[in-house]
Amino acid sequence: MTRRVRLGVNIDHVATVRNARGGVHPDPVRAAQEAIGAGADGITAHLREDRRHITDADITALTDLCRRAGRPLNLEMAVTDEMLAIALRHRPHAACLVPERREEVTTEGGLAVAGHEARIAPVARALAEAGSRVSLFIEPSPEQVAAAAAVGAQVVEFHTGRYCHLPVGGRDAEFARLAAAAKQAHAAGLEVHAGHGLDYDTAREVLAIPEIVELNIGHFLIGEAVFVGLGPAIRAMRQAMDEATA
Ligand code: PXP
Repeated sequence: MTRRVRLGVNIDHVATVRNARGGVHPDPVRAAQEAIGAGADGITAHLREDRRHITDADITALTDLCRRAGRPLNLEMAVTDEMLAIALRHRPHAACLVPERREEVTTEGGLAVAGHEARIAPVARALAEAGSRVSLFIEPSPEQVAAAAAVGAQVVEFHTGRYCHLPVGGRDAEFARLAAAAKQAHAAGLEVHAGHGLDYDTAREVLAIPEIVELNIGHFLIGEAVFVGLGPAIRAMRQAMDEATA
């Protein structure tokens, strides 16, 4: 059945390059503008506790841009009081709760919701009351999906990092885990997203899971932009996604 899956473009690594020299170029807000012009359905940015890429000023500017452009901003954030206060100030379209450890290179593994419901539920409630859709970035496991539903999330984003790191031909078991978790989440009334590590091929592959309605993709697209430009990379991803769901 044909369906149109939304593409959220994560522009964190434009800020990574900018920060390497401490100046203002390349500007992640300009990248977000380009991404929207190339057909991104939304912009995703992760304000990390250590501000290693996106800054507070970026979030202010991205919030303004997305409002003007009529596109959703998906703010990825750790479950901390500081990040909650920032999110409540900006009221992004969506807030995606992610695990964060200072020493990690990227978001390694999903949020442990199971066992931490008492910490996560009030944060989810406060965000929802402020008008943000609450998404939880989790591993595709039955325990995490059940806990996500229990704390009142509206969305789960499944971590596809493990899937993408497996060799071609060795991904069937992880695909089955993702597919089962997506089915369980959908049955529990949760909207299903996926992201991390996706490229043209793995994006196509995971879209065989019918419950997935949004992909969030950053590193690969920003890397491809070096060779083909950001607009063409996003348009090629759009085409790959549309082909996979035609
Ligand atoms: N979704 C979430 C929740 C993430 O934390 C990240 C990485 O910041 C992504 C999607 C995008 O992953 P990648 O940059 O590997 O495409």
